[in-house]
Amino acid sequence: MKILLTAGARPNFMKLAPIIRELKKHPEIDFQIVHTGQHYDDNMNDVFFRDLDIPKPNYNLGVGSGSHATQTAKIMLEFEKICDYEKPDLVIVIGDVNSTLACALVASKLHIDIAHIEAGLRSYDLKMPEEINRLVADQVSKYLFCTIPEAVDNLRKENYKEDRIFLVGDTMIDNLLYNVSKINHNPYGDEPYIALTMHRDTNVDNKEILEELLRTLKHISNHYKIIFPMHPRTKKKVEEFGFQKYLVNIETLEPLGYIDFLTLIKYSKLIITDSGGLQIEAAALQIPCITMRDTTEQVDTLKYGHNVLVGHDYGKMIHEFVIRTQPNFELPKLDDGLRDGKVSERIVALLT
Ligand code: UD1
Repeated sequence: MKILLTAGARPNFMKLAPIIRELKKHPEIDFQIVHTGQHYDDNMNDVFFRDLDIPKPNYNLGVGSGSHATQTAKIMLEFEKICDYEKPDLVIVIGDVNSTLACALVASKLHIDIAHIEAGLRSYDLKMPEEINRLVADQVSKYLFCTIPEAVDNLRKENYKEDRIFLVGDTMIDNLLYNVSKINHNPYGDEPYIALTMHRDTNVDNKEILEELLRTLKHISNHYKIIFPMHPRTKKKVEEFGFQKYLVNIETLEPLGYIDFLTLIKYSKLIITDSGGLQIEAAALQIPCITMRDTTEQVDTLKYGHNVLVGHDYGKMIHEFVIRTQPNFELPKLDDGLRDGKVSERIVALLT
């Protein structure tokens, strides 16, 4: 069997690594890695390949940044050539980024089977580009590998046939379990801190919204240390709008590699984010999380209070900051039977 494994952006890489570790145990499978080049900076890309020991991709399409249409179209044009040449039996697409959508569309038109890893998640917010990417990738995929039972429910509601749906768990948790125990040193010292990430277009591209968010975070930073590895999109917008004044008290960093980021969150007391993946990682590590979004596809993180959505309600954000940094604030350990480090094993077993 020949598989093309596709990835393109930072949140794909940590989900890809454990699948490759598993595929390496199967010499009968010929797999090739196709990197679309959606993310390309060393600290958004190369560092993850080094940290996670992912082999050098067989192909790098080098598409880089651009509007949604430009990026998607460029990936499609290049990926089609590779599919024509390699003639794979299966294409694996991961998550919900533009690379996921583009590669899934190409493979489906060429009648190549597709496996979608992280299928069935829904925020029910069609203004999110990721929601459109998910909906399309699921439609054209033959194998839908779900991370949580709620994703299975979503697919059933959309009338997907049962024989396409597989509840396997999250390969990102495989990766977290594989790496987190190796981290034994807190380089940030004894003072408790909040780990902050923010990059979503709905938060950073609009001047008024970004200003209100930064004003609120500045207020929090007067009471509690905040460490903020800044995504390049956010950095550009902060500079463009002249908002550096809100960051004086906040310790800003360049984007971190996988291990450095895991270290930052492992020792944090609270996470404030708009990322999808970080909501899952926070819940897995039992670190309280505040999500600056109105909706989430990671609904399981809300069930027992690990995560709370505050959207652009700045009063609620401060209220949740106060509650979630109380010394007696505790969270239960999540145990859904899928956090056993064997998700990739299940996926590869099903595919073979
Ligand atoms: C993409 C994903 C998003 C994911 C995020 C993680 C889509 C639609 N969005 O958003 O779901 O949460 O990745 O980071 O696929 N840039 C650089 N260097 C890079 C990459 C990006 O400077 O290596 C800058 C460019 O200015 C670029 C901007 O960041 O235009 C946005 O990059 P893009 O890949 O379009 O989207 P993300 O915001 O990273």
